[in-house]
Amino acid sequence: MEDTNLNVSRRNFIKGVIATGAAVSSAAYVFRGNPLSGQASTPGGIGNVERLLTLNVNGQDRPVDAMKQETLAMTLRYKLGLTGTKIGCDRAECGACTVLVDDVPRYSCSTLTHAVRGKKIVTIEGLAAADGTLHPVQQGVVVEQGFQCAFCMPGFVMATVGYLKTTPNPTRAELAHGISGNLCRCQDYDKILTAMMHGAELMRGV
Ligand code: FES
Ligand code: FES
Repeated sequence: MEDTNLNVSRRNFIKGVIATGAAVSSAAYVFRGNPLSGQASTPGGIGNVERLLTLNVNGQDRPVDAMKQETLAMTLRYKLGLTGTKIGCDRAECGACTVLVDDVPRYSCSTLTHAVRGKKIVTIEGLAAADGTLHPVQQGVVVEQGFQCAFCMPGFVMATVGYLKTTPNPTRAELAHGISGNLCRCQDYDKILTAMMHGAELMRGV
């Protein structure tokens, strides 16, 4: 005989997933070149239940239905609607998809969603304070106008925020090395670094 409580909580969980997905249902849900992109969702079926998990993103527990091979970048953008995380190369080369996982910068395009179960994820949307005050590194971007198209900006900001957690008072050279895993197609690295250094100063109250 089936456990009624388990069924009820599972039903509630699936309802939460559906509610979350509804917010981004109009987004183009595309898994580029992935032959499993058409993998059927079978509500209530065993395969579907294995895909359900709760992610802690920006301080909130978010129920989500993620395929086993799904990357965190895809889940954040197309399941949770957090499109501030960009996908550039989609193969661990450019850093546009950088988020913090337990305070450590990670390429979300190369991190499986199921691998970060139970961890604390922070995206660019989670940096500002509750009253809307921008994070000091974001303020540094505004003041210095360090980017051109700014596609790479969220990744640089997240990489810098992560780096400053362990090295709050870096030299310019140290910060350049610390965020060297991030690339910019517009290639004004000097201005970007100036903006990030300004953000570091604001964090220290300089
Ligand atoms: S999109 Fe993840 S490293 Fe380029
Ligand atoms: S400012 Fe355009 S990619 Fe960096």
